Amino acid sequence: MTLESAPESELPTNDPLTRTPAEGLVIDPVLDLIVDPLAESNKGSEWWRSAVIYQIYPRSFADSDGDGVGDLAGITSRLPSLATLGIDAIWLSPFFTSPQRDAGYDVADYCDVDPIFGTLEDFDRLEQEAHRLGLRVIVDLVPNHTSSDHRWFTAALAAGAGSPERARYMFRDGKGNNGELPPNNWQSVFGGEAWTRTTDPDGRPGQWYLHLFDSSQPDLDWSNEWVREQFREILRFWLRRGVDGFRVDVAHGMIKVEGLPDYFAPTLEDGEDANSMGGDAAAVPYWAQPGVHEIYRDWHQLLEEFDGDRVLCAEAWVQPLSKLANWVRPDEMHQAFNFSYLETPWSGNEIRAIVDESIEAFSGVGAPSTWVLSNHDVIRHTSRLALDSPPPQGAGLGPLSEPKPDEALGLARARAASLLMLALPGSAYVYQGEELGLPEVINLPDASRQDPTFFRHNGEKYGRDGCRVPIPWEAGTPAYGFNSTGESWLPQPSDWDDYARSSQEGVPGSTLSLYTAALRERRARGLGLGSVEWLEGYGDDVVAFRNGDVVVIANTGQVAVELPVGDIVVSSVALSEAALPADTTVWLIPRPEYDD
Ligand code: GLC
Repeated sequence: MTLESAPESELPTNDPLTRTPAEGLVIDPVLDLIVDPLAESNKGSEWWRSAVIYQIYPRSFADSDGDGVGDLAGITSRLPSLATLGIDAIWLSPFFTSPQRDAGYDVADYCDVDPIFGTLEDFDRLEQEAHRLGLRVIVDLVPNHTSSDHRWFTAALAAGAGSPERARYMFRDGKGNNGELPPNNWQSVFGGEAWTRTTDPDGRPGQWYLHLFDSSQPDLDWSNEWVREQFREILRFWLRRGVDGFRVDVAHGMIKVEGLPDYFAPTLEDGEDANSMGGDAAAVPYWAQPGVHEIYRDWHQLLEEFDGDRVLCAEAWVQPLSKLANWVRPDEMHQAFNFSYLETPWSGNEIRAIVDESIEAFSGVGAPSTWVLSNHDVIRHTSRLALDSPPPQGAGLGPLSEPKPDEALGLARARAASLLMLALPGSAYVYQGEELGLPEVINLPDASRQDPTFFRHNGEKYGRDGCRVPIPWEAGTPAYGFNSTGESWLPQPSDWDDYARSSQEGVPGSTLSLYTAALRERRARGLGLGSVEWLEGYGDDVVAFRNGDVVVIANTGQVAVELPVGDIVVSSVALSEAALPADTTVWLIPRPEYDD
């Protein structure tokens, strides 16, 4: 794959934080690592407060060697197109050494790159090119569990009960006369028991180990100082390499209640799931325990030792937002994903309420709110927003799901929802492919599914593969330009030509043009650092506010809304009259009305 170069004029020029080019990057002779001396000058910029951060799912972004799995060199070759899109940073889902039983969220070596993705040198090149283009780089840190292939875990199995090696994980004796029952009743997020029994070297059944996720993802014991010290070193390793921060996986799960008591879920409402990641975590003995916070205070200080403004972003499925705000107190993390916003239906009243709640909760601790609509764990919002009752997180959509989302309706709502999101002050996350309007892939054959959720639920939950299909770059080419061989680890639909980047680039009205225009105007008008001032006089179905000089109006209802007189900045559909149709959003600069 050749390096595609963006015309100079299309690169971001008006961002005061944009880093200048590669000449500034040098190899540190002592560390033998690439260092970015410009980072020092960025100390205090707090770029993350308003940043638009683009999530790259490496296995599905761009595949340079044609084996059907995306890789780091592929990402590097496509970075110029992200710079022209107008984002500020990329977050890379895990690319570390891993048996890939949970698509890389099962890490076997935190300080190396899995050969399917490339090498550490490929990572350095990626980071250098990203910085040259003014894009910051956030990597994924998976501290709750390792892979069962990690040397710490194989050493723990070999060392036996009561050993210091076992004390790094959550090994316990079983209940019952012969230890044949699991130590408690906890269920895995992916389905089935959260415990697996080991076999001792003599072949006899041994202790059990805890895994909140797949059995190939044993939970670490974060009350163990040894574990904490290892992760300090892992953080330093990547910080020295020049990363701008970490997205922290399962940041609400690392500390479990002392004694590991049984958990009896309260009566569930329709659509709720006892072993989900979210919900009110208050009563769950493995979610949102107060002990997690001292870990983040420790990491906050560690990051401060490095130049530039490095960040921590929590993946914490914690509700309500007033509780999630504890993850972003001034001495803890910098951001937390706002999943309450992601889960809000396409309803004016509910969107206004969650925006208010978010701004109040986060500003109460001096943090920006984040906004997010899609990621690699949820049904793409292009499909989700077309459903009245979308399945709970992790359940996914598949061939037998009913009703199926209406693609045109979903796309209209997704475009409107994204334009609304990008007008909000704070930091926004964009998941690869949403700028193309990609829908969830529903018709994946069972035989090609890979998500452990699907297998641990015996196919009763489809899982998350539908949002992870490799993205289309060029219409009419093998694998839509994901690679040049046509291989793809998940099959791509045959009708994606119109979604391909090449079909949308420079095309007025395309979803890519909408995102590009919105990101350009957001940046130029400083919306990310602005504020929300609600506008009265619109109905329940309408979200209307002013941020700086821009009036934003989103119509979630069915009745067209009369627009104020003004100049349209961006709109999710071409507007032919002064009315905003159903399922659309507009940004405009109001004009005073004059009588003739
Ligand atoms: C997080 C990741 C998800 C992964 C899980 C276990 O929720 O986003 O993809 O399966 O953690 O690591």
